[in-house]
Amino acid sequence: MRKITTATMTVAAATMLVLSGCSGRGEATQSAAAGFDKGSTIGVVLPTKTSENWVLAGDLFTNSLRDAGFKGDVQYAGASSSVADQQSQISSMVTKGAKVIIIGAVDAGQLTSQVKAAHDAGSVVISYDRLIVNSPDVDYHIGFDSFRVGELQGQSLLEGLEERFPDKKTYNVELFSGSPDDSSAAAFFNGAMKVLKPKIDDGTLKVVSGQSEIKQTATPGWLPQNAQIRMDTLLAGTYGSTDLDGVLSPNDTIARAIITSVKGAGKTVPVVTGQDSEVESVKSIVAGQQYSTINKDTRLLVKANIEAVEALAGGQKPKTNTEIDNGAKKVPADLLTPLIVTKKNAVEAYANDPVLAPLTK
Ligand code: BGC
Repeated sequence: MRKITTATMTVAAATMLVLSGCSGRGEATQSAAAGFDKGSTIGVVLPTKTSENWVLAGDLFTNSLRDAGFKGDVQYAGASSSVADQQSQISSMVTKGAKVIIIGAVDAGQLTSQVKAAHDAGSVVISYDRLIVNSPDVDYHIGFDSFRVGELQGQSLLEGLEERFPDKKTYNVELFSGSPDDSSAAAFFNGAMKVLKPKIDDGTLKVVSGQSEIKQTATPGWLPQNAQIRMDTLLAGTYGSTDLDGVLSPNDTIARAIITSVKGAGKTVPVVTGQDSEVESVKSIVAGQQYSTINKDTRLLVKANIEAVEALAGGQKPKTNTEIDNGAKKVPADLLTPLIVTKKNAVEAYANDPVLAPLTK
């Protein structure tokens, strides 16, 4: 019985592939690769709204796809069942015949079969901002260079420490990383550690808690409350009579949670890094509290994705400038350049941003 079922399915699957003009797994012979009409459905799957950039991305995708004449289908995962939500959203976009599916994954390793189904059905799959790992079916990756983000965070932690404590030669620091299911979290942390590890090894930086492995520093779900609890615990356990000089924070929501924790413990605010240029963090930087953030202009990132969709609609390959190994293939990628922002360069960094520029005046 099982044999018959399997054989029947194999024939059925092969027939479907022939009918759809698709050679199955392998190079992009997807039907969408030959171009498609402007009115086609373009799916966008985004994670929960943990940071301002995801909220902005959703609005920009909705408006830009509509303005470009496409039928945009923009979906967010819910907070409690986010992986299952994304899996069913992608499956439903495949059923609707989406020509391109742009995915910002909650968990970069949990979408393999949905991405395969999309690819096999002829949709082009673009991983957005967070690289989808261990899947041979991702066609393109378009995002900011996450390893570079980490390097910039590491460098700015060192610069901030030298600037704020010109008389010190060694500094007490703690390290935080993002959510373990987000592939970018490791890229940020590894980029930062490329800069910080030699300084930990030569004694310039002392991680007083001793927690410097990515697992020990993780912030599940990127949730600020998880970071705040960890910082509270570290302060209570290790910093009774010891100064905390700096904290590597992977993004702005976590940076602000760390600052809240330190203030709550009655300590001086240390040098804290960040990422995303969120409104409250830009205000904090201008006020001399949070030390730095990263500008990853979401408008540029969404624009790059829309340009890729337009190229594909015209039967062209999207613009790429590198390849990233996702564990299963070298994914053609368009990596945009992140910018570090401190109080010193905030005015020029946000000069073209109508929301952030006024905050720097
Ligand atoms: C993004 C960051 C963001 C984080 C939490 C990451 O994948 O690259 O910009 O801070 O998710 O939302």
